[in-house]
Amino acid sequence: MDHNLSGLYQTLLCMLEDGILTVVINRVDKMNALNREVFDELELVIQKVEKQSSVKAVIITGGGPKAFVAGADISEFNGLSSDEAAQLAKRGQDLFSRLENCSKPIIAAVNGFALGGGCELAMACHFRLAADHAKFGQPEVNLGLIPGYGGTQRLTQLVGKGKAMELMMSGNMIDAMQAQQLGLVNHITSADTLLEETKKLLKTILSKGPNAVGRVIAAVNAFYDKNKNGYQEEVRLFGECFGTSEMKEGVTAFLEKRKPNF
Ligand code: COA
Repeated sequence: MDHNLSGLYQTLLCMLEDGILTVVINRVDKMNALNREVFDELELVIQKVEKQSSVKAVIITGGGPKAFVAGADISEFNGLSSDEAAQLAKRGQDLFSRLENCSKPIIAAVNGFALGGGCELAMACHFRLAADHAKFGQPEVNLGLIPGYGGTQRLTQLVGKGKAMELMMSGNMIDAMQAQQLGLVNHITSADTLLEETKKLLKTILSKGPNAVGRVIAAVNAFYDKNKNGYQEEVRLFGECFGTSEMKEGVTAFLEKRKPNF
């Protein structure tokens, strides 16, 4: 347990074990809704994740059995001016972009409702596992709103324009199986084994070259960055790999018919 990362937060629980930091959004009585305090604390955590070498990967999940995150905290919307609302959306987008561009794997373990900002948070993670009772949706239109934390963009990237339009225009919820069919979720598990299965997959990822894994994230994200040419980024990142001791060890280990020691 790393005390730098655990025990300091009002709305999060953080546990570091075997290099995997599990971040639990922990506002169980409010379905783990994202209020400003959650944003502030997630921001602190991601800063530490970026800096702290003891953290190799992150799992984001929700507290309690019912919700991953049931959205932005609607009680904070009352009385916001258009400018203040735009600032809130910018804040959410910046934070979620930071998660998406983190060089260490960040996986969502969706253990219940992932609605609105909760679905947007899950989509900002590098990929998602879900418990079989999880539900996904962008129900903002029910409130006369649209998604504001990157959802209109990431949902379209993940499931395509027609399905994204339908989900966001209808506000309909989909279950884990439908989310998997759409490509929103990679794997479905029972609620009991969700964290265990997520850790198992992360352990496989963590046995690979960490810098290579970070460069996979950067290269894939370049596809969605209008300021970058993804193919050029791939060439650049591929070249960079050849300057790393990690690549030398990987190639040498293969030639010596042994496991690499990254
Ligand atoms: N913001 C603030 N509070 C929320 C919330 C949100 N997004 N989602 C749930 N809560 C609160 C409820 O107000 C309730 O608080 P209370 O006990 O003080 O009244 C508590 O969490 C439990 O929610 P409840 O609605 O009673 O649970 P349920 O099991 O009947 O329904 C949901 C669960 C997730 C279907 C329902 O809470 C819901 O539709 N939430 C809003 C989802 C949404 O629109 N998200 C997008 C926001 S932009």
